[in-house]
Amino acid sequence: MSEQTRASFGGKISAILVAAGSAIGLGSIWRFPYMAGEHGGAAFLLVYLLCVFVVGIPIMLAEFAVGRRTRMNAVGGYRALSRPWRWLGYNGVLAAMFISGYYYIVAGWSLEYMVESATGRLYCSADSFSEQFAAFQASPRQALYTVIFILLTHLIIVRGVEKGIEKAAKVMMPALFVILVIMAVRVAFMPGAAEGYHFFLDPDFKEAFSADTIFTAVGQAFFSLSVGMGCMVTYASYFKRDNNLTGTAFSVALLTLLVAVLAGLVIFPAVFSAGLQPAEGAALIFVTLPEIFRDMPFAALWSAVFFILLTLASLTSTISFHEVITAYLLEEHKLSRRNATRITSALSVALCAVTLGFSFDIDWGGIKLDGISFFDIFDYTSANILMPLGGLFTCIFAAWRMKPTLLRDELTNDGSLRGRAFPLLYFTLRYVTPLLLIYIFVKNLGMV
Ligand code: PHE
Repeated sequence: MSEQTRASFGGKISAILVAAGSAIGLGSIWRFPYMAGEHGGAAFLLVYLLCVFVVGIPIMLAEFAVGRRTRMNAVGGYRALSRPWRWLGYNGVLAAMFISGYYYIVAGWSLEYMVESATGRLYCSADSFSEQFAAFQASPRQALYTVIFILLTHLIIVRGVEKGIEKAAKVMMPALFVILVIMAVRVAFMPGAAEGYHFFLDPDFKEAFSADTIFTAVGQAFFSLSVGMGCMVTYASYFKRDNNLTGTAFSVALLTLLVAVLAGLVIFPAVFSAGLQPAEGAALIFVTLPEIFRDMPFAALWSAVFFILLTLASLTSTISFHEVITAYLLEEHKLSRRNATRITSALSVALCAVTLGFSFDIDWGGIKLDGISFFDIFDYTSANILMPLGGLFTCIFAAWRMKPTLLRDELTNDGSLRGRAFPLLYFTLRYVTPLLLIYIFVKNLGMV
């Protein structure tokens, strides 16, 4: 499509806003503390930090280059540059489906907590926060909130991504940042907070450092930055020609990192102060955060504001993976935006229904696994397998297969930017990132 007819985002700041809107969401605020709590705290943080720079940023840049050059969806983008590589786009669409299968459910939890806070019920109940969370999971309201969230995403996507996201992100992000800082200051005064800082900031390499820590942290880097699955290809297809891609990628990564670190600084002191466990699992923030608000004046109000912001942050992320599937259907299968959106939303409802409806037990010749859930399968497969694999091949494609001048032209806007960081980035993308990813995969399979 020509530049005139295809939608595009506004200016320089908008590119950062929308990409950061995609990146910052449940990944940084819900999944990061949940994973760090289960995989060694500070050691996890350290590996995650490293991965953001060595893995996340270079891959985001490669995706930006493919998307803005081709101005197409994930499948079309790779196909336009090299036909056999279109599978990399399909891998992304598949990952987006897997993420849809559980992300909306967690976003629904946030919506529920927003309502329960605003009505004051969360803080009036005689039940503990864990009991309240368990009760919510057992009630049909969970499915209802999931569907409402899919509907909200649907309504924004039908109108086209460029409307609404920028405005939402512009207000939501600074507000989210401010409330996290206020909460971080507040928890510092809670009794027993020091133990939380120790857990989150003081790495214990002997105890907590394992191949599993590394594997999980890599997955978290992919997930939280929305890379390795074509999302940034799709979004960059709406960027303007004069956007500075390198600057955008660094800003997005730094903002995401900031939110994740702040989330950790809020959660872990509160976990230890309230006598909870850092390895609480998926419920972690939903049972811990109310502990922080409970003793604050206007508890219900603070809590409602926080969960409104978390809901908005999740919405700017759901929009982005919904758009990966929608843009693919729209451009590759020549559907109208309305129909492409409908199919994607219906698929999301179906996948979430599977997740909410089924968990199962496995018994293979003595290997017994009880209560395997689609929730964990969708989460693990997308973040730890599809996205890192997609990321690995994105590196190989961008640094070995694509014309070398293409990457340079995109990252320097055809030579109008100096691109001082380019040689280092190119080297990283060509050697460091792929070798590191291969090593981690092989190591996790127990081969070295
Ligand atoms: N990065 C988003 C988050 O952290 C999730 C996401 C993953 C969005 C992949 C789009 C693509 O919440």
